[in-house]
Amino acid sequence: MYKNKQLDEVKVFKDPVHRYVRVSDQVIWDLIATPEFQRLRRIKQLGTTYLTFHGAEHSRFNHSLGVYEIVRRMINKMESHEGWNKEERLVSLCAALLHDLGHGPFSHSFEKVFSLDHEHFTKKIILEDTNVHAVLSRVEPDFPIKVAQIIDKSYVDKLVVSMISSQIDADRMDYLLRDAYYTGVSYGQFDMERILRVMRPTEDQVVIKSTGMHAVEDYIMSRYQMYWQVYFHPVTRSAEVILTKIFHRVKHLYEKGYQFKMNPTPLLSFFRGEVKINDYLQLDESVINYYFQQWQHEDDEVLRDLSSRFVNRILFKYIEFKPEKHMDKYETLQNLFREAGIDPDYYLVIDSSSDLPYDVYRAGEERIPIYLQMPSGEEKELSTHSVIVEAITGKTREDHKIYFPIEKIKMIQDTKRKDEIIELLYYR
Ligand code: NI
Repeated sequence: MYKNKQLDEVKVFKDPVHRYVRVSDQVIWDLIATPEFQRLRRIKQLGTTYLTFHGAEHSRFNHSLGVYEIVRRMINKMESHEGWNKEERLVSLCAALLHDLGHGPFSHSFEKVFSLDHEHFTKKIILEDTNVHAVLSRVEPDFPIKVAQIIDKSYVDKLVVSMISSQIDADRMDYLLRDAYYTGVSYGQFDMERILRVMRPTEDQVVIKSTGMHAVEDYIMSRYQMYWQVYFHPVTRSAEVILTKIFHRVKHLYEKGYQFKMNPTPLLSFFRGEVKINDYLQLDESVINYYFQQWQHEDDEVLRDLSSRFVNRILFKYIEFKPEKHMDKYETLQNLFREAGIDPDYYLVIDSSSDLPYDVYRAGEERIPIYLQMPSGEEKELSTHSVIVEAITGKTREDHKIYFPIEKIKMIQDTKRKDEIIELLYYR
């Protein structure tokens, strides 16, 4: 039976984070070989972060294999405990492997401008007429639906869902370790082996044996650190702002009937808002980067300038922005920019980041808290037991910045206006 078919020998991928990724199921091996999964090699895990941390060139392919490997190890550990249903093994591994399948190029900016959602596409690629779907339906006719349900968290077995998406899941553990490794920072580290050893299956989620609490504290702090030191790094956000504005500009020009020197054919269905699954799968970062190269030679000055900035890493500078304090200043700057012939919609941009490192359940939210299993067998929510976690529970940190092109400002002819802008930006 295809479902249980094992490879003649275990295939091993060398991985810098987990050392080895092991595949023994024919189904997993066949999924990895599909064009839809191979496409993930051409999408970076961290978008524009490589412009800040040059090592961060790893792809969604690496990460997806990593999440698969962690779930595989979790299952190996859990099989020795009561409460794990062996029937769920293959479907869990498939969901782990495929959970990010629908990510597009530079997902953050791209999804924002074209109102897309990668989870929606992940589901479509699993359920519609694709190679991935063909592999999954060979297992059982309703197997693709089960995989999609685990990913969108509607699956009946909540234990399985919690392994792939919860506040301590294989997805987060892989990306924290992997992103720390590839950026070269030292703060993403935590002892994953220890966490896997203390995980216990219960009916509706994975819980942590209380002796493993400190390893979990370390994991939560590493997440907290990574968000602020890496994911929300202002230089990365600057590149992200430029990307978003490029997509905005291209869409705007298309809507105005602008004649591009080279028609952006693969993007047309996105402009029109009628994206078919095949259009989506044609797109990856190599395609988009090619257009950025081309757009440096467009007649439209904004598109030309922004594209060239992205390609050559001439990023926007930034200053702190406090919404409750700096709104007037921002409006004055907008006017001065306009008077100087610099369009503030593209060149004076407020960008905000916020993160909630750990949260206990709040009504209406899907966040499931982490539970510790005490020696008595009773379960306690993590922040009631850990002082460190309690300190950051439910606390959102926010950061706002204004981004602007200093080179353009320095070139303003009217010295008085130029000085006024610089004074407002840096000294008031
Ligand atoms: Ni992921």
